[in-house]
Amino acid sequence: MNWNVIWLSLSLCFSSVLCSLDKYTTDSLDAALQDIALQTLVRHRPHTGALYKAMLPANLSGMNVSIVRLRSRRLWNIGANFSNFHIPSRTLTVPHVRRLAIVYQDFGNWSSNYYSVPGYSMITPVTGFMVFDASNVRARRITKLSLKTAGNPIVIRFSDPTFSDGMISRATRCATFSSDGALNLSQMSLANVCYSHDQGHFTIVVPLKKKKKAGLWYLWVIGFVLGFGVLVLVGYLGVVVSLKLLKTKKIQVMEKQADEDLVLDTIWVGRSKMPSATVTRTQPVIEEGGFA
Ligand SMILES: *[C@@H]1O[C@H](CO)[C@@H](O)[C@H](O)[C@H]1NC(C)=O
Ligand SMILES: *[C@@H]1O[C@H](CO)[C@@H](O)[C@H](O)[C@H]1NC(C)=O
Ligand SMILES: *[C@@H]1O[C@H](CO)[C@@H](O)[C@H](O)[C@H]1NC(C)=O
Ligand SMILES: *[C@@H]1O[C@H](CO)[C@@H](O)[C@H](O)[C@H]1NC(C)=O
Ligand SMILES: *[C@@H]1O[C@H](CO)[C@@H](O)[C@H](O)[C@H]1NC(C)=O
Repeated sequence: MNWNVIWLSLSLCFSSVLCSLDKYTTDSLDAALQDIALQTLVRHRPHTGALYKAMLPANLSGMNVSIVRLRSRRLWNIGANFSNFHIPSRTLTVPHVRRLAIVYQDFGNWSSNYYSVPGYSMITPVTGFMVFDASNVRARRITKLSLKTAGNPIVIRFSDPTFSDGMISRATRCATFSSDGALNLSQMSLANVCYSHDQGHFTIVVPLKKKKKAGLWYLWVIGFVLGFGVLVLVGYLGVVVSLKLLKTKKIQVMEKQADEDLVLDTIWVGRSKMPSATVTRTQPVIEEGGFA
């Protein structure tokens, strides 16, 4: 079997394992962050409409999480404008609840540990928000809600200006990771701004350099050619060696035969070789003193 084939199938299955693992880890991380944020609310006896920063454990330092509690009526009347996300007025939750909580996340330097876009590199941290029923935060059993905007989209502003308006290339994309795990890439119209119609996680991406891909492609071809060459060489050597072995064996057999022939069939008589059979009726006689 060719090593390239084995390697290809190995890497394919490995990456698919990683992909499913990714989804699992982001889900459990989201659940943990949501829990920490809700504890923050419980501790603060919160005012509705005030944004609270969650205290994260040391092993998550570098991320920022905050939470706000709102009445649904307020979301409908004036929307929500916190932490770089502008949710417009005339927005409903599905299903309808009286109070909702919004958890905002900024993954900072952890972004690439949890999110990736195949073929693209992320040029901003991943930010996101999740919406929950906050009618009873103490109950700890939290219902996830979705949002329904009436026309105007939710505006996501990326705070670090990675580039100015003139610099967005046509290849720059807004990447949206929906809560069901789906990825959507959409064209950017304004620098550092993305749009959405529901909760999710967001980042700005640019295509990976083509050169790198070409390099990889060449490596594959070189690997394949080398592997094939080695295979052919090994095959050729095998054939040559076995042919040689066969030949030697044949020669040995022939030599043995020849030796036997020599021993059995000829004897030296004086200076001349004479044919002889194993069974001879008359032995040749060497005359005495024939050499003198
Ligand atoms: C962080 O530590 C807590 C325990 O303090 C643990 O439960 C959690 O899984 C850890 N999270 C990560 C992402 O390592
Ligand atoms: C992110 O940065 C913090 C310090 O600000 C560090 O403690 C943490 O280990 C970093 N996380 C990663 C995944 O590099
Ligand atoms: C949202 O808040 C930011 C400041 O946090 C402000 O610059 C922006 O104009 C506000 N957007 C709307 C639509 O009110
Ligand atoms: C988190 O918040 C702190 C202070 O509010 C800020 O300095 C830091 O840049 C934020 N980090 C991220 C990744 O947003
Ligand atoms: C991706 O996003 C664009 C813009 O928001 C939207 O029009 C399109 O329907 C989305 N596609 C999918 C598959 O969700």
